[in-house]
Amino acid sequence: MGKMAAAVGSVATLAAEPGEDAFRKLFRFYRQSRPGTADLGAVIDFSASRGSGPGARKVVRFQLSVSSVSDHDAHRAGLQPVSKWQAYGLQGYPGYQWHWVKQCLKLYSQKPNVCNLDKHMTQEETQDLWEQSKEFLRNKEVNKRRPRSLLEKLRWVTLGYHYNWDSKKYSADHYTPFPSDLAFLSEQVAAACGFQGFRAEAGILNYYRLDSTLGIHVDRSELDHSKPLLSFSFGQSAIFLLGGLKRDEVPTAMFMHSGDIMVMSGFSRLLNHAVPKVLPSPQGESLPCCLETPLPTVLPRDSVVEPCSEEDWQVCTRYLKTARVNMTVRQVLATDQDFPVEPMEEKKRDITTEGFCHLDDENCQVKRVKLNPDS
Ligand code: OGA
Ligand code: MN
Repeated sequence: MGKMAAAVGSVATLAAEPGEDAFRKLFRFYRQSRPGTADLGAVIDFSASRGSGPGARKVVRFQLSVSSVSDHDAHRAGLQPVSKWQAYGLQGYPGYQWHWVKQCLKLYSQKPNVCNLDKHMTQEETQDLWEQSKEFLRNKEVNKRRPRSLLEKLRWVTLGYHYNWDSKKYSADHYTPFPSDLAFLSEQVAAACGFQGFRAEAGILNYYRLDSTLGIHVDRSELDHSKPLLSFSFGQSAIFLLGGLKRDEVPTAMFMHSGDIMVMSGFSRLLNHAVPKVLPSPQGESLPCCLETPLPTVLPRDSVVEPCSEEDWQVCTRYLKTARVNMTVRQVLATDQDFPVEPMEEKKRDITTEGFCHLDDENCQVKRVKLNPDS
């Protein structure tokens, strides 16, 4: 009997909520789980030696398309040759993770990209979150009482076709250029997984604090579900729950560590998933060891990743000690497809009652609550 059964047993001891589905039940279990205890015994760890541990029978090696990406293009994107990747948890050169973390914090958070702070602040106030926050973050003396810097209040950023959280749609008239370095990385990863010609058209970046969760959802707003959804994780580890097509299927729990890439494609493209827990680092506020490696000094001439300065690195370090950053990249339209023309009436009606909260903070003042269909 595996530890899976043990965890399921523990879940059963939670006070039952009326009408609660299997996914929600496990979501609650992990949200209140205590790291370092048997609570996490059933969480699959792809980074642990393969073929052992709970749920290992669920872990299979996936055949990558080694010939689709040249070693040089992989290197340009800061990745190892595809032949060295492990299909259940792709690991890049550790040092390169800094490039993406820095881009998420310093560059992608800037205009014209859209972020959660835009709703409450002027363009001027959100002009340069990095510049406004870096002194705060670099300051060694940790003043717990100081107000949170803007970077620490950042929860999400959208890229390319900007996802509309209310209508749950992308639209042709809300587009800004997708970052070319992230597009290149995504194309290489997709090609290695057998998806040649993947186009990075939309991105959602999630910035998690230790008390953040991501609610149960399915990413179905993209118009072509035959294209994969790529997800890159950095910083503190998290528990990721992957469920079924319906919420009453018990989800599988797995760790997402820094540098892990998840590709949701085929059958798994439309599965329910959630992040009920970001795990604090085991030895207080420290970084995963793969982030301690400095950047290589020699990069290909046409590299899309660039070295991260000592100064920038310090700010990222400070930030990541209590945070997780996740980038998801999506192709929205099929080749030669256009957005459907929508009459105004329909746009109104499409605000659904499902009311799913995206990144939810325990201490967040403005919680996303169920949308009233009449409002
Ligand atoms: C998403 C998502 C997962 C994660 O942004 O749609 O599912 O690991 N993110 O943060
Ligand atoms: Mn998702």
